Amino acid sequence: MDVARWCSGLFSSRGALMRAFTSLTLEGVSYAFGVHTVLDHIDLHIEPGEIVALLGPSGCGKSTLLRLLAGLTQPARGTIRFGERVVARPGWALPTEQRDLGMVFQDYALWPHMTVAQNVDFPLRMRRVARDERARRVGEALERVGLAAFAARRPAGLSGGQQQRVALARAIVAEPGVLLFDEPLSNLDSELRE
Ligand SMILES: Nc1ncnc2c1ncn2[C@@H]1O[C@H](COP(=O)(O)OP(=O)(O)OP(=O)(O)O)[C@@H](O)[C@H]1O
Ligand SMILES: [Mg+2]
Repeated sequence: MDVARWCSGLFSSRGALMRAFTSLTLEGVSYAFGVHTVLDHIDLHIEPGEIVALLGPSGCGKSTLLRLLAGLTQPARGTIRFGERVVARPGWALPTEQRDLGMVFQDYALWPHMTVAQNVDFPLRMRRVARDERARRVGEALERVGLAAFAARRPAGLSGGQQQRVALARAIVAEPGVLLFDEPLSNLDSELRE
């Protein structure tokens, strides 16, 4: 619920975001670590702009499913489509950087050698956004997560919740067609979640 409310605030403040979203379709997606089947024939369709939360006990495969959507692993069976485009099928996967997605990883996965601002800037650099525009959008994203004063710090100098907010800013800064959040608010108190 908190995620849905956080997202709806994000979208209503920038109407353009809604139009840019992509549908997601999984058909018969399966994945196994060795002999241990984690995902068994998953069918799921998510409309553009729809917010879907995956709930389940620890170890049930939530992060694995997100990693498949992100292109960090490939399905053993089934297909994944973003809109009409197939992005993964057995033996082939579109590279992550070509999927127009933002992701908050469960462990944040910030780059330790980069400052907060450089971490958030990275998706914009990858998309070859002009320098002035990048600076403006990084500033806006850091403002949105309440970290404008921390732009020059490195992740090691931040609390867990602050690191999580850097990861959030990095996921949303490029306004991607797909946003994947792996427990993105777990380290934040209720005021910060708002
Ligand atoms: N690299 C790996 N090698 C072998 N097994 C793995 C690996 N990564 C995850 N698993 C197993 O796959 C299953 C699903 O893991 P996953 O991380 O997707 O769970 P989760 O639903 O995200 O759990 P949590 O709520 O604790 O984050 C677990 O049983 C886990 O032990
Ligand atoms: Mg997980």
